[in-house]
Formats: sequence, structure tokens, C-alpha cells
Amino acid sequence: MSGLQFLGTGSYVPDFVADNDRFSQILDTSDEWIYPRTGIKKRQLAVDKPNYYMGTEAAKDALKSAGITADKIDLIIVSTCTPDFFYPAMSCLIQKRIGAVNASCFDVNSACTGFITAMDIAHKFLETDKYKTILIVSSEKLSSQQDYTDRANCILFGDAAGAVVVAKSDGQFSSFLGAEGDEFDALYCKVNYQSNCPWFKDEDEFYENRFDTFAKKNYLYQDGRAVYKFAVNAMADAVNHVSEQIGIAPSELDLVIPHQANLRIIAKATELLGIPEEKVYTNIEYMGNVSSACIPVGIDELYKSGRLKRGMKLCLVGFGAGLTYGSIIMET
Ligand code: UT7
Repeated sequence: MSGLQFLGTGSYVPDFVADNDRFSQILDTSDEWIYPRTGIKKRQLAVDKPNYYMGTEAAKDALKSAGITADKIDLIIVSTCTPDFFYPAMSCLIQKRIGAVNASCFDVNSACTGFITAMDIAHKFLETDKYKTILIVSSEKLSSQQDYTDRANCILFGDAAGAVVVAKSDGQFSSFLGAEGDEFDALYCKVNYQSNCPWFKDEDEFYENRFDTFAKKNYLYQDGRAVYKFAVNAMADAVNHVSEQIGIAPSELDLVIPHQANLRIIAKATELLGIPEEKVYTNIEYMGNVSSACIPVGIDELYKSGRLKRGMKLCLVGFGAGLTYGSIIMET
């Protein structure tokens, strides 16, 4: 089996900075509560830009970094759980804006696990040899789904986009994707359809009254404690799966880029795996949780600063709504 290499990386982070003090001006909260519990000091919000704008800018940055023109892209995969449109897919909007005239396009949604899912799909498409150069964009505007009176959740999330251009390589690659649909109502944002169909029934009949009132407002709902509990074991499980596949211990990895939901989750999961802190990349302190964009933004930061070197055993691991989880180990 072949591997996958980065030809280039990119990102876009909006200008508007919301630090913890800004939240304490509008909510009963404080830096003293937020920082020790989450590891977050600030996040950036796309107050005047749609999600596809961020995705497009990250895509342009990745193409520039790869040194190729958009017409060389065979496929665009976008991961997002915060799209501007139900349809068309965001990948089609980005295709138009960057001029990737030869690309096929589709989106994936496995929430915060989305970049890992997209990378795994890209790897399988590259294996066919029909697709040579793939652009993956993870773009998330979480601010569009927050209830800014809900202090338990809105303080966690930021907006950003990350992108990579990938091609086949000779390196090792292993992947694992898992899901626990039983726990779907631990973290969700329900679509608020307003039907004028004359035969429309009260939707609660279909949903068995499982959702609380937040569900009616297109806002994110989360049972933070349930997700926390799931996340620690899911991350450890996923990394163990991929490590076993390529026959190494997690402690032998060169670098780990985890999903950035909570610094305490990252610390606990990597401690369980025996991975030393200095091998674990975090940017949650200044980015917050930007869902599926966390990992590719981290990749871009590492790639451009020269910390991501050829031949490294890089591990990506994430979890999110679904509940989904997954991991990849790739030789860069
Ligand atoms: O990618 C998405 C995945 N999501 C996650 O990974 C989230 C996982 N969960 C977590 O990270 C944590 O559960 C949170 C950071 C969300 C919450 O931390 P917690 O220690 O589980 O707090 P809690 O929800 O149990 O709340 C403890 C207390 C409550 O007050 P009482 O009932 O004890 O009086 C909350 O009302 O803290 C209160 N609280 C706050 N206080 C000040 C909740 N949010 C805040 C806040 N500021 N922002």
C-alpha cells in the first residue's frame, strides 16, 4: 500500500479576536474559569465573512505553498459541519473561486473528525491512480451555530480554515475511523426546517422528544461531560489501532497533532498512550476549538515553521459529533 505526502499547506484565520475577557463582558464567566478548564485564552471569529470565504483563502494559500496552479487539482474534498448552504457542496464554491476547472468535488461531514475522514478518502482515491493531486479543505465557522448566552459552550469555539494539497508517496500510511451513533445526542446542531407542506406533522413525533429547546434554534447543543468522557478513551483507542497496524508503539511516533477541544483531554489521552508532551502539538490556547480545521491549521503552522520534516511518523487523531473518532499515522 502506498502513502500520502503533503505538497503544500495553507490556512486562514479571521482577524476579530475574542479573548476570555471579552466573554466576561457579556456573560457570567472569566479567564479564571475558562483557561484552567479548557486551555483556551482566545479564539478568532469570522464576524463579517462566510465560511466558504475562509475555505477559499486557505485553499489559495495551500496551492501557493505547493507551487501549483488550480487546474492541476483532480479532486477537492471539503470537510465542514458549518456550511453556508445545504447545497451545493462547499467544495463547488471553492472550486469556482480558485478556478480548479478539472476537479471533481464533494464534501464530507463527520464533524470534528472531518479532516481525518477526508485524508483517509483522499488516500483511497490516490491509490486508484486516477487521481494524482487532491486538495483537502477543512473550513469551519462555529460562531454561526453558537448561542452567545450559553456560557458552557460558546466560549469553546473559534472560526478558521486549513488546507493541504496531497499526492501519493512511498511512505507508510495507516488509518482508523470509528463511530458511536448511540451517543449522537451528546453533541448536535439540529436543522430547523420550516415547512409549509400542508401535510407536515409535528416533528417531535419523529424525534421522540429527545431534544431540548436548543434543538429548535439551529444552535450547538453539547453534554460537555459526556463528550469529555468519550473523547479521552476514543483518542487513545484510535491511536492504538493505527499504531498496531504499522507495528510501532505510540511512544515511537515523532509528532502528534490531536483535535483541539480541551487541553485536559489531550493531556489525559496522550498520557494514557505514553506519548511525551513535547511530541504533542497544541494551538488551542490562541485558536479555541475550530472543529475539523484544528488539525490542518496545526499542520500548516508546523509545515511553514519547518518543524514538520520529511520521513517523520506523524499521527493525526480526532473525535467529534456523531460521536465519531479516528486517527491516521503517515510517514511525511
Ligand atoms: O469538538 C467538540 C468536542 N467537545 C468537547 O470536547 C467538550 C468536552 N467537554 C469539556 O471540555 C468540558 O466538559 C467543558 C469545558 C465543556 C465544561 O467543563 P466541566 O468541568 O465539565 O464543567 P461543567 O459543565 O460540569 O460545569 C461546572 C460548573 C457549572 O456550575 P455549577 O452547576 O457547578 O454551579 C457550570 O454552570 O461550571 C459552570 N460553568 C461555567 N462557569 C463559568 C459552565 N461554563 C462556565 C463558564 N464560566 N464558561
